[in-house]
Amino acid sequence: MRTFEIIQYPHPMLRRKALPVTRFDQRLSSVARRMIATMYRNKGVGLAGPQVNLSERILVFDVTEERDQPLVMVNPEVLRSEGSRLSEEGCLSIPDVRVSVPRAETVIVKAQDATGGFFEIEAAGLKAAVLQHEIDHLNGVLIVDYLPEGVTLNMARERPSRLAVR
Ligand code: NI
Repeated sequence: MRTFEIIQYPHPMLRRKALPVTRFDQRLSSVARRMIATMYRNKGVGLAGPQVNLSERILVFDVTEERDQPLVMVNPEVLRSEGSRLSEEGCLSIPDVRVSVPRAETVIVKAQDATGGFFEIEAAGLKAAVLQHEIDHLNGVLIVDYLPEGVTLNMARERPSRLAVR
């Protein structure tokens, strides 16, 4: 299957608030399948529409070790979140950067599947963190936004993703 190219920070698409999906057609199913293939190929645990240059509220994820339980969520919405934990996160769009991000411990998320049917999932721990990370992408929010004050990405360097302390 053809995979998507993953766009890299600071591509402006990563900052755009993605648009709601309104058409649940063949194209959307094909986008979802390609996103899953792209996630696996890049050894990611999740991937969001804007990362493949689509301003669409769709994400895919799979936190299983076997890499055989992908889930597609369209127009996801966090209904409830509880607790908090620090989550060490990377991002396929920002290579070589790890950021400690405060996340809710558990979330209940409502979404649609690729054919438009509604469902809810409850997630905890890593799975909950991945979901929050991908939903952030749909809102133009990136892990670098959680860096401590005074720490920025030094884009002038040869390796653009290096962290610099100002
Ligand atoms: Ni990411």
